[in-house]
Amino acid sequence: MNSKLGNILLDTSKTLDFVSKEEVQAYAVEAKAHLEALYQKTGKGSDFLGWVKLPTSITFEELKDIQQTAARFKKDCEVVVVIGIGGSYLGAKAVIDALSDNFVQLKERKNPLVVFAGQNISEDYMTELRSMLHGRNWGIVVISKSGTTTEPAIAFRILKTDLEKKYSKEGASQRIVAITDASKGALRTLATREGYKTYVIPDDVGGRYSVLTPVGLLPIAIAGFELGALVKGAADMEKLTAPEVPFQENPAAIYAATRNALLRSGKDIEIMVNYNPKLHYFAEWWKQLYGESEGKDGKGIFPASVDFTSDLHSMGQYIQEGRRALFETVLSIAQPNNKMVIDTDEANLDGLNFLAGKRMDEVNKMAELGTIIAHVDGGVPNIRIELPLLNEYYLGQLIYFYEIACGISGYLLGVNPFDQPGVEAYKKNMFALLEKPGFENETKAIKARL
Ligand code: PA5
Repeated sequence: MNSKLGNILLDTSKTLDFVSKEEVQAYAVEAKAHLEALYQKTGKGSDFLGWVKLPTSITFEELKDIQQTAARFKKDCEVVVVIGIGGSYLGAKAVIDALSDNFVQLKERKNPLVVFAGQNISEDYMTELRSMLHGRNWGIVVISKSGTTTEPAIAFRILKTDLEKKYSKEGASQRIVAITDASKGALRTLATREGYKTYVIPDDVGGRYSVLTPVGLLPIAIAGFELGALVKGAADMEKLTAPEVPFQENPAAIYAATRNALLRSGKDIEIMVNYNPKLHYFAEWWKQLYGESEGKDGKGIFPASVDFTSDLHSMGQYIQEGRRALFETVLSIAQPNNKMVIDTDEANLDGLNFLAGKRMDEVNKMAELGTIIAHVDGGVPNIRIELPLLNEYYLGQLIYFYEIACGISGYLLGVNPFDQPGVEAYKKNMFALLEKPGFENETKAIKARL
Protein backbone atom coordinates (compact mmCIF):
# COMPACT_ATOMS: atom_id res chain seq x y z
CA MET A 1 0.00 0.00 0.00
CA ASN A 2 1.63 3.23 -1.13
CA SER A 3 0.37 6.65 -0.38
CA LYS A 4 1.84 10.01 -1.40
CA LEU A 5 2.00 12.45 1.49
CA GLY A 6 2.63 15.70 -0.31
CA ASN A 7 6.13 14.78 -1.21
CA ILE A 8 6.67 12.39 1.69
CA LEU A 9 6.13 8.77 0.81
CA LEU A 10 4.60 6.16 3.10
CA ASP A 11 5.21 2.59 2.00
CA THR A 12 3.54 -0.22 3.92
CA SER A 13 3.96 -2.85 1.19
CA LYS A 14 6.58 -4.75 3.21
CA THR A 15 4.07 -5.49 5.95
CA LEU A 16 1.89 -7.52 3.62
CA ASP A 17 3.59 -10.85 4.34
CA PHE A 18 2.43 -10.36 7.94
CA VAL A 19 -0.93 -8.57 7.76
CA SER A 20 -3.24 -8.61 4.75
CA LYS A 21 -4.66 -5.55 2.97
CA GLU A 22 -8.07 -6.68 4.27
CA GLU A 23 -6.85 -6.74 7.89
CA VAL A 24 -5.65 -3.14 7.55
CA GLN A 25 -8.75 -2.09 5.61
CA ALA A 26 -10.88 -3.55 8.42
CA TYR A 27 -9.85 -0.52 10.53
CA ALA A 28 -11.02 2.01 7.91
CA VAL A 29 -14.43 2.86 9.38
CA GLU A 30 -13.15 2.99 12.94
CA ALA A 31 -10.09 5.06 11.98
CA LYS A 32 -12.27 7.58 10.17
CA ALA A 33 -14.63 7.81 13.16
CA HIS A 34 -11.66 8.40 15.48
CA LEU A 35 -10.25 11.09 13.21
CA GLU A 36 -13.63 12.81 13.22
CA ALA A 37 -13.71 12.52 17.02
CA LEU A 38 -10.34 14.30 17.15
CA TYR A 39 -11.76 17.14 15.07
CA GLN A 40 -15.12 17.28 16.84
CA LYS A 41 -13.61 16.77 20.31
CA THR A 42 -15.92 13.92 21.18
CA GLY A 43 -13.35 11.28 22.16
CA LYS A 44 -11.27 10.62 25.28
CA GLY A 45 -9.05 13.51 26.38
CA SER A 46 -11.09 16.00 24.37
CA ASP A 47 -9.81 18.92 26.48
CA PHE A 48 -6.36 18.44 24.95
CA LEU A 49 -7.04 18.72 21.23
CA GLY A 50 -5.82 22.25 20.62
CA TRP A 51 -2.97 20.88 18.49
CA VAL A 52 -5.27 19.30 15.86
CA LYS A 53 -5.85 22.50 13.87
CA LEU A 54 -2.81 24.35 15.21
CA PRO A 55 -0.71 24.41 12.00
CA THR A 56 -3.41 26.11 9.92
CA SER A 57 -4.32 28.51 12.70
CA ILE A 58 -0.88 29.91 13.61
CA THR A 59 -0.89 33.54 12.50
CA PHE A 60 1.79 35.56 10.77
CA GLU A 61 1.81 37.93 13.78
CA GLU A 62 2.50 35.05 16.21
CA LEU A 63 5.44 33.85 14.11
CA LYS A 64 6.75 37.39 13.75
CA ASP A 65 6.68 37.95 17.49
CA ILE A 66 8.62 34.72 18.10
CA GLN A 67 11.13 35.66 15.42
CA GLN A 68 11.63 39.08 17.01
CA THR A 69 12.34 37.48 20.38
CA ALA A 70 14.75 35.07 18.68
CA ALA A 71 16.49 38.04 17.02
CA ARG A 72 17.10 39.58 20.45
CA PHE A 73 18.77 36.37 21.66
CA LYS A 74 20.79 36.22 18.43
CA LYS A 75 22.04 39.76 19.02
CA ASP A 76 22.93 39.28 22.69
CA CYS A 77 23.91 35.64 23.12
CA GLU A 78 26.53 33.20 22.00
CA VAL A 79 24.72 30.39 23.82
CA VAL A 80 21.04 30.02 24.78
CA VAL A 81 20.11 27.45 27.40
CA VAL A 82 16.66 25.98 26.83
CA ILE A 83 15.35 24.56 30.10
CA GLY A 84 12.60 21.95 29.93
CA ILE A 85 11.86 18.22 30.00
CA GLY A 86 9.63 15.77 28.10
CA GLY A 87 7.30 17.62 25.78
CA SER A 88 8.86 20.90 26.86
CA TYR A 89 12.21 19.74 25.46
CA LEU A 90 12.14 16.95 22.89
CA GLY A 91 10.38 18.68 19.98
CA ALA A 92 12.84 21.57 19.86
CA LYS A 93 15.80 19.23 20.37
CA ALA A 94 14.56 16.93 17.56
CA VAL A 95 14.13 19.70 15.00
CA ILE A 96 17.32 21.58 15.92
CA ASP A 97 19.44 18.43 15.76
CA ALA A 98 17.85 17.34 12.48
CA LEU A 99 18.66 20.67 10.84
CA SER A 100 22.02 21.43 12.44
CA ASP A 101 25.53 20.65 11.27
CA ASN A 102 26.71 17.56 13.18
CA PHE A 103 29.67 19.54 14.47
CA VAL A 104 27.91 22.84 15.08
CA GLN A 105 29.51 23.21 18.49
CA LEU A 106 32.98 23.31 16.97
CA LYS A 107 32.28 25.47 13.92
CA GLU A 108 31.79 29.15 13.36
CA ARG A 109 28.12 30.01 13.79
CA LYS A 110 25.80 32.81 12.67
CA ASN A 111 23.31 31.94 15.40
CA PRO A 112 23.56 31.16 19.10
CA LEU A 113 24.37 27.61 20.12
CA VAL A 114 21.20 26.16 21.66
CA VAL A 115 21.92 23.80 24.54
CA PHE A 116 19.48 22.13 26.90
CA ALA A 117 19.14 21.83 30.66
CA GLY A 118 16.52 20.59 33.10
CA GLN A 119 16.07 17.38 31.08
CA ASN A 120 18.06 15.51 33.74
CA ILE A 121 19.15 16.03 37.36
CA SER A 122 22.77 15.12 36.77
CA GLU A 123 25.23 17.07 38.88
CA ASP A 124 27.98 16.39 36.34
CA TYR A 125 25.85 17.72 33.47
CA MET A 126 24.97 20.91 35.34
CA THR A 127 28.51 21.54 36.57
CA GLU A 128 29.94 21.09 33.09
CA LEU A 129 27.22 23.27 31.54
CA ARG A 130 27.95 26.09 33.98
CA SER A 131 31.66 25.95 33.32
CA MET A 132 31.01 26.05 29.54
CA LEU A 133 28.79 29.15 30.04
CA HIS A 134 31.42 30.88 32.13
CA GLY A 135 32.95 33.77 30.17
CA ARG A 136 30.36 33.61 27.36
CA ASN A 137 27.31 35.73 26.65
CA TRP A 138 24.23 33.69 27.24
CA GLY A 139 20.51 33.69 27.99
CA ILE A 140 17.71 31.35 29.06
CA VAL A 141 14.44 30.10 27.61
CA VAL A 142 12.65 28.30 30.45
CA ILE A 143 9.74 26.08 29.46
CA SER A 144 7.26 24.32 31.72
CA LYS A 145 3.57 23.99 31.05
CA SER A 146 2.70 23.12 34.62
CA GLY A 147 5.37 25.49 35.89
CA THR A 148 6.09 23.07 38.72
CA THR A 149 8.16 20.25 37.20
CA THR A 150 11.12 19.47 39.46
CA GLU A 151 13.91 18.91 36.92
CA PRO A 152 13.55 22.21 35.00
CA ALA A 153 12.76 24.09 38.22
CA ILE A 154 16.08 23.00 39.77
CA ALA A 155 17.99 23.89 36.60
CA PHE A 156 16.30 27.29 36.41
CA ARG A 157 16.98 28.08 40.06
CA ILE A 158 20.72 27.46 39.50
CA LEU A 159 21.12 29.11 36.10
CA LYS A 160 18.97 32.14 36.94
CA THR A 161 21.28 32.87 39.88
CA ASP A 162 24.34 32.56 37.63
CA LEU A 163 22.77 34.86 35.04
CA GLU A 164 21.87 37.46 37.68
CA LYS A 165 25.42 37.37 39.07
CA LYS A 166 26.79 37.99 35.59
CA TYR A 167 24.38 40.63 34.28
CA SER A 168 22.61 41.93 37.45
CA LYS A 169 19.00 41.12 38.24
CA GLU A 170 17.67 43.69 35.80
CA GLY A 171 20.07 42.64 33.02
CA ALA A 172 19.28 38.96 33.55
CA SER A 173 15.53 39.57 33.32
CA GLN A 174 16.10 40.90 29.77
CA ARG A 175 17.85 37.63 28.88
CA ILE A 176 15.19 35.27 30.19
CA VAL A 177 12.02 34.22 28.38
CA ALA A 178 9.50 31.97 30.12
CA ILE A 179 7.03 29.74 28.28
CA THR A 180 4.32 28.45 30.59
CA ASP A 181 0.64 28.36 31.47
CA ALA A 182 -1.37 31.57 31.06
CA SER A 183 -2.07 31.93 34.77
CA LYS A 184 -1.14 28.84 36.85
CA GLY A 185 2.11 27.51 38.32
CA ALA A 186 5.25 28.74 40.04
CA LEU A 187 6.95 29.73 36.77
CA ARG A 188 4.07 32.06 35.84
CA THR A 189 4.24 33.69 39.28
CA LEU A 190 8.01 34.11 39.02
CA ALA A 191 7.86 35.46 35.45
CA THR A 192 5.26 38.05 36.44
CA ARG A 193 7.24 39.11 39.48
CA GLU A 194 10.55 39.39 37.61
CA GLY A 195 9.03 40.96 34.47
CA TYR A 196 10.21 38.31 32.01
CA LYS A 197 8.92 38.23 28.47
CA THR A 198 6.53 35.25 28.35
CA TYR A 199 4.68 33.03 25.93
CA VAL A 200 1.64 30.97 26.80
CA ILE A 201 1.32 27.22 26.24
CA PRO A 202 -2.36 26.83 25.37
CA ASP A 203 -4.40 24.96 27.97
CA ASP A 204 -5.62 22.49 25.39
CA VAL A 205 -2.20 21.48 24.04
CA GLY A 206 -0.38 18.79 26.04
CA GLY A 207 3.42 18.85 26.32
CA ARG A 208 4.21 16.16 23.77
CA TYR A 209 1.93 17.80 21.16
CA SER A 210 3.39 21.28 21.73
CA VAL A 211 6.33 21.50 19.32
CA LEU A 212 4.41 23.83 17.00
CA THR A 213 3.66 26.28 19.85
CA PRO A 214 6.33 28.69 21.19
CA VAL A 215 7.65 25.67 23.18
CA GLY A 216 9.30 24.37 20.01
CA LEU A 217 9.17 27.39 17.76
CA LEU A 218 11.21 29.83 19.87
CA PRO A 219 14.26 27.56 20.39
CA ILE A 220 14.09 26.50 16.72
CA ALA A 221 14.06 30.16 15.62
CA ILE A 222 16.95 31.01 17.96
CA ALA A 223 19.00 28.22 16.37
CA GLY A 224 18.39 29.98 13.04
CA PHE A 225 15.80 27.80 11.36
CA GLU A 226 12.81 28.81 9.25
CA LEU A 227 9.56 28.77 11.19
CA GLY A 228 7.45 29.64 8.14
CA ALA A 229 8.53 26.52 6.23
CA LEU A 230 8.13 24.27 9.30
CA VAL A 231 4.59 25.47 9.94
CA LYS A 232 3.71 25.34 6.23
CA GLY A 233 4.80 21.70 6.10
CA ALA A 234 2.64 20.90 9.11
CA ALA A 235 -0.31 22.85 7.67
CA ASP A 236 -0.05 20.97 4.37
CA MET A 237 -0.03 17.69 6.28
CA GLU A 238 -3.05 18.83 8.30
CA LYS A 239 -4.93 19.11 5.00
CA LEU A 240 -3.60 15.79 3.66
CA THR A 241 -4.80 13.93 6.75
CA ALA A 242 -8.12 15.72 7.35
CA PRO A 243 -11.28 13.68 8.06
CA GLU A 244 -12.68 14.24 4.56
CA VAL A 245 -9.68 12.47 2.97
CA PRO A 246 -10.67 8.85 2.16
CA PHE A 247 -8.94 6.17 4.27
CA GLN A 248 -6.96 4.79 1.30
CA GLU A 249 -5.45 8.23 0.68
CA ASN A 250 -4.95 9.28 4.28
CA PRO A 251 -1.39 8.37 5.31
CA ALA A 252 -2.00 8.94 9.03
CA ALA A 253 -5.04 6.65 9.04
CA ILE A 254 -3.13 4.00 7.07
CA TYR A 255 -0.13 4.16 9.41
CA ALA A 256 -2.36 3.97 12.50
CA ALA A 257 -4.34 1.07 11.05
CA THR A 258 -1.24 -0.81 9.90
CA ARG A 259 0.52 -0.63 13.27
CA ASN A 260 -2.65 -1.75 15.06
CA ALA A 261 -3.06 -4.65 12.62
CA LEU A 262 0.58 -5.58 13.27
CA LEU A 263 -0.01 -5.39 17.01
CA ARG A 264 -2.97 -7.72 16.67
CA SER A 265 -0.72 -10.15 14.76
CA GLY A 266 1.69 -10.23 17.74
CA LYS A 267 4.12 -7.46 16.80
CA ASP A 268 4.04 -5.26 19.89
CA ILE A 269 7.36 -3.39 19.51
CA GLU A 270 7.86 -0.72 16.86
CA ILE A 271 11.42 0.34 16.12
CA MET A 272 12.02 3.68 14.44
CA VAL A 273 15.09 3.35 12.24
CA ASN A 274 17.21 6.11 10.74
CA TYR A 275 20.25 6.09 8.48
CA ASN A 276 21.26 9.65 9.35
CA PRO A 277 22.41 10.51 12.89
CA LYS A 278 20.68 13.89 12.61
CA LEU A 279 17.41 12.01 13.15
CA HIS A 280 18.42 10.44 16.47
CA TYR A 281 16.43 12.93 18.51
CA PHE A 282 13.49 12.85 16.12
CA ALA A 283 13.11 9.25 17.27
CA GLU A 284 13.36 10.37 20.90
CA TRP A 285 10.51 12.84 20.29
CA TRP A 286 8.49 10.12 18.56
CA LYS A 287 9.12 7.65 21.41
CA GLN A 288 7.76 10.15 23.92
CA LEU A 289 4.77 10.95 21.72
CA TYR A 290 3.77 7.31 21.23
CA GLY A 291 5.03 5.89 24.53
CA GLU A 292 3.30 8.43 26.71
CA SER A 293 0.17 8.52 24.56
CA GLU A 294 -0.38 4.78 24.13
CA GLY A 295 1.34 3.05 27.02
CA LYS A 296 -1.44 2.76 29.59
CA ASP A 297 -4.21 0.45 30.81
CA GLY A 298 -1.85 -2.48 30.16
CA LYS A 299 -1.85 -1.63 26.43
CA GLY A 300 0.34 -0.04 23.80
CA ILE A 301 2.99 -0.75 21.19
CA PHE A 302 6.42 -0.28 22.78
CA PRO A 303 8.29 2.42 20.81
CA ALA A 304 12.01 1.83 20.40
CA SER A 305 14.63 3.30 18.10
CA VAL A 306 17.96 2.54 16.49
CA ASP A 307 20.53 4.51 14.50
CA PHE A 308 21.71 2.54 11.47
CA THR A 309 24.16 1.54 10.28
CA SER A 310 25.85 1.98 13.73
CA ASP A 311 23.30 -0.17 15.52
CA LEU A 312 23.42 -2.86 12.86
CA HIS A 313 26.62 -3.74 14.67
CA SER A 314 24.81 -4.04 17.99
CA MET A 315 21.01 -4.32 17.89
CA GLY A 316 21.09 -5.72 14.34
CA GLN A 317 21.60 -9.23 15.71
CA TYR A 318 18.49 -9.06 17.90
CA ILE A 319 16.36 -7.53 15.17
CA GLN A 320 17.42 -10.22 12.68
CA GLU A 321 17.08 -13.26 14.94
CA GLY A 322 15.70 -12.38 18.37
CA ARG A 323 12.14 -12.61 19.70
CA ARG A 324 9.78 -12.08 16.75
CA ALA A 325 7.67 -9.31 18.30
CA LEU A 326 9.14 -6.44 16.27
CA PHE A 327 8.25 -4.28 13.35
CA GLU A 328 10.30 -1.43 11.96
CA THR A 329 9.51 1.99 10.57
CA VAL A 330 12.41 3.35 8.54
CA LEU A 331 12.76 7.12 8.15
CA SER A 332 14.72 7.59 4.95
CA ILE A 333 16.00 10.82 3.44
CA ALA A 334 16.00 10.62 -0.39
CA GLN A 335 18.66 13.29 -0.96
CA PRO A 336 21.30 14.23 1.59
CA ASN A 337 22.12 17.93 1.81
CA ASN A 338 25.74 17.24 0.83
CA LYS A 339 27.40 15.27 -1.95
CA MET A 340 30.50 13.12 -1.53
CA VAL A 341 32.03 10.58 -3.86
CA ILE A 342 34.34 7.73 -2.77
CA ASP A 343 37.81 7.90 -4.37
CA THR A 344 39.83 5.24 -6.17
CA ASP A 345 42.89 4.03 -4.29
CA GLU A 346 45.71 2.72 -6.39
CA ALA A 347 46.88 0.12 -3.90
CA ASN A 348 43.29 -0.95 -3.13
CA LEU A 349 44.49 -2.73 -0.01
CA ASP A 350 41.04 -2.40 1.56
CA GLY A 351 39.47 -3.94 -1.55
CA LEU A 352 36.99 -1.09 -1.84
CA ASN A 353 37.73 0.08 -5.37
CA PHE A 354 34.42 -1.43 -6.45
CA LEU A 355 32.89 1.56 -4.63
CA ALA A 356 35.09 4.16 -6.35
CA GLY A 357 33.05 6.85 -8.06
CA LYS A 358 29.93 6.00 -6.05
CA ARG A 359 28.38 8.45 -3.65
CA MET A 360 28.66 7.57 0.01
CA ASP A 361 24.87 7.93 0.11
CA GLU A 362 24.51 5.18 -2.48
CA VAL A 363 26.31 2.81 -0.11
CA ASN A 364 24.04 4.02 2.71
CA LYS A 365 20.94 3.44 0.57
CA MET A 366 22.06 -0.09 -0.37
CA ALA A 367 22.69 -0.78 3.32
CA GLU A 368 19.13 0.39 3.96
CA LEU A 369 17.61 -1.70 1.18
CA GLY A 370 19.67 -4.76 2.04
CA THR A 371 18.71 -4.45 5.70
CA ILE A 372 15.00 -4.02 4.97
CA ILE A 373 15.00 -7.17 2.82
CA ALA A 374 17.01 -9.13 5.42
CA HIS A 375 14.77 -8.04 8.29
CA VAL A 376 11.55 -8.77 6.38
CA ASP A 377 12.97 -12.21 5.49
CA GLY A 378 13.79 -12.63 9.18
CA GLY A 379 10.18 -11.95 10.22
CA VAL A 380 10.25 -8.19 10.86
CA PRO A 381 7.56 -6.28 8.93
CA ASN A 382 8.71 -2.96 7.51
CA ILE A 383 7.06 0.41 7.07
CA ARG A 384 9.09 3.01 5.19
CA ILE A 385 8.67 6.76 5.23
CA GLU A 386 10.73 8.74 2.77
CA LEU A 387 11.44 12.46 3.04
CA PRO A 388 12.73 14.06 -0.17
CA LEU A 389 15.07 16.25 1.90
CA LEU A 390 15.84 16.94 5.52
CA ASN A 391 14.55 20.48 5.83
CA GLU A 392 12.05 22.53 7.84
CA TYR A 393 9.16 21.90 5.45
CA TYR A 394 9.36 18.10 5.47
CA LEU A 395 10.03 17.99 9.20
CA GLY A 396 6.85 20.04 9.66
CA GLN A 397 4.98 17.47 7.59
CA LEU A 398 6.46 14.59 9.53
CA ILE A 399 5.69 16.11 12.92
CA TYR A 400 2.03 16.65 12.16
CA PHE A 401 1.76 13.25 10.43
CA TYR A 402 2.98 11.52 13.60
CA GLU A 403 0.80 13.62 15.90
CA ILE A 404 -2.47 13.02 14.11
CA ALA A 405 -1.63 9.35 13.51
CA CYS A 406 -0.94 9.02 17.24
CA GLY A 407 -4.39 10.37 18.10
CA ILE A 408 -6.04 7.89 15.72
CA SER A 409 -3.85 5.01 16.82
CA GLY A 410 -4.44 5.67 20.53
CA TYR A 411 -8.19 5.69 19.98
CA LEU A 412 -7.92 2.44 17.96
CA LEU A 413 -6.16 0.93 20.99
CA GLY A 414 -8.95 2.18 23.23
CA VAL A 415 -6.82 4.46 25.42
CA ASN A 416 -6.83 8.19 26.16
CA PRO A 417 -3.81 9.36 24.14
CA PHE A 418 -3.72 12.75 25.87
CA ASP A 419 -3.07 11.99 29.51
CA GLN A 420 -0.05 10.53 31.35
CA PRO A 421 -1.23 9.41 34.80
CA GLY A 422 1.65 6.93 35.11
CA VAL A 423 4.24 9.70 35.19
CA GLU A 424 3.17 10.62 38.74
CA ALA A 425 4.32 7.39 40.44
CA TYR A 426 8.06 8.15 40.39
CA LYS A 427 7.47 11.75 41.46
CA LYS A 428 5.52 10.64 44.52
CA ASN A 429 8.31 8.28 45.60
CA MET A 430 11.04 10.83 44.88
CA PHE A 431 9.28 13.50 46.96
CA ALA A 432 8.66 11.00 49.76
CA LEU A 433 12.33 10.00 49.78
CA LEU A 434 13.40 13.66 49.75
CA GLU A 435 10.99 14.34 52.66
CA LYS A 436 9.03 17.04 50.85
CA PRO A 437 6.62 18.78 53.24
CA GLY A 438 3.13 17.33 52.81
CA PHE A 439 4.51 13.85 51.99
CA GLU A 440 5.04 12.71 55.62
CA ASN A 441 2.88 9.57 55.32
CA GLU A 442 4.45 8.56 52.00
CA THR A 443 7.92 9.15 53.48
CA LYS A 444 7.14 6.84 56.40
CA ALA A 445 5.68 4.18 54.10
CA ILE A 446 8.53 4.18 51.59
CA LYS A 447 11.25 4.27 54.25
CA ALA A 448 9.71 1.18 55.84
CA ARG A 449 10.32 -0.64 52.57
CA LEU A 450 14.02 0.18 52.31
O1 PA5 B 1 3.96 15.38 27.40
C1 PA5 B 1 3.87 15.75 28.53
O2 PA5 B 1 2.82 16.23 29.00
C2 PA5 B 1 5.05 15.65 29.49
O3 PA5 B 1 6.11 14.99 28.92
C3 PA5 B 1 5.49 17.04 29.90
O4 PA5 B 1 5.84 17.77 28.74
C4 PA5 B 1 6.69 16.99 30.84
O5 PA5 B 1 6.39 16.22 31.97
C5 PA5 B 1 7.09 18.40 31.29
O6 PA5 B 1 6.02 19.05 31.87
P1 PA5 B 1 6.00 20.60 32.08
O7 PA5 B 1 6.03 21.28 30.76
O8 PA5 B 1 4.71 20.84 32.81
O9 PA5 B 1 7.20 20.96 32.91
